[in-house]
Amino acid sequence: MTTIIALVTHFPRLVPPSAVPPTRASRCNRAAPQTLAHHFPTLHAALSYSAASWLVPRTAVALALYCSWVNSDTKTSRLLREVTTHSADETIAFGRTLVPLLAPPKLVLLCGDLGAGKTTLMKGIAAAFDAAAEDDVTSPTFTLIHEYRGPHTAVYHIDLYRIDTPRELDTLALDDLRSDNSILVIEWGEKFPRFVRERDVEISLDREGENGRRIRVRG
Ligand SMILES: Nc1ncnc2c1ncn2[C@@H]1O[C@H](COP(=O)(O)OP(=O)(O)OP(=O)(O)O)[C@@H](O)[C@H]1O
Ligand SMILES: [Mg+2]
Repeated sequence: MTTIIALVTHFPRLVPPSAVPPTRASRCNRAAPQTLAHHFPTLHAALSYSAASWLVPRTAVALALYCSWVNSDTKTSRLLREVTTHSADETIAFGRTLVPLLAPPKLVLLCGDLGAGKTTLMKGIAAAFDAAAEDDVTSPTFTLIHEYRGPHTAVYHIDLYRIDTPRELDTLALDDLRSDNSILVIEWGEKFPRFVRERDVEISLDREGENGRRIRVRG
């Protein structure tokens, strides 16, 4: 009983507001609410200080971790090569020059609209690794994966245009194709964030007029 009386006396906020009938005057001139700070200023200050000293450094650490996670999500990319080709043959020839940048093991994203020239570029890449004749490199749109074996390098040409879900992607078991002497060159791989994160090289093709293609290689 003594405890209840003490509580009610020391913490007037515990008294239900209905105990004091509201009048115009009491509503407008109501006394400031009695708080912990009012009753125990030192305790309140100490609690505030310890809460702040607990919260501030932890918030800073959490922010730093979040920023580094956001930055690590996308590999930083440097523009390695940039060229404009004016025919399919020029694009194939440019593909042939990319071997030093694509030495295995590599995960390569080929980005560009339908008909941008990704498969055409792939002809030059596969031929340069002695993995296939240019004319034997065709679009894997329906077969999804084409494998071209060179003397030192296995070149996998993959087309994910028709793959929409991570579950469908898993059925391809692309990770099983990755090895020290293989390169995976993926059309439409940017549909899946994990490939954007993991890719070593990204080659983008943009149309410039009917036969012009701006090709940028980043890594
Ligand atoms: N400068 C060029 N570079 C590449 N291809 C060109 C160029 N100019 C014209 N073309 C033509 O554009 C077409 C490119 O087709 P390709 O199959 O290589 O495109 P793609 O990006 O693989 O398309 P998809 O997303 O449908 O697989 C070919 O018919 C090619 O002859
Ligand atoms: Mg293609």
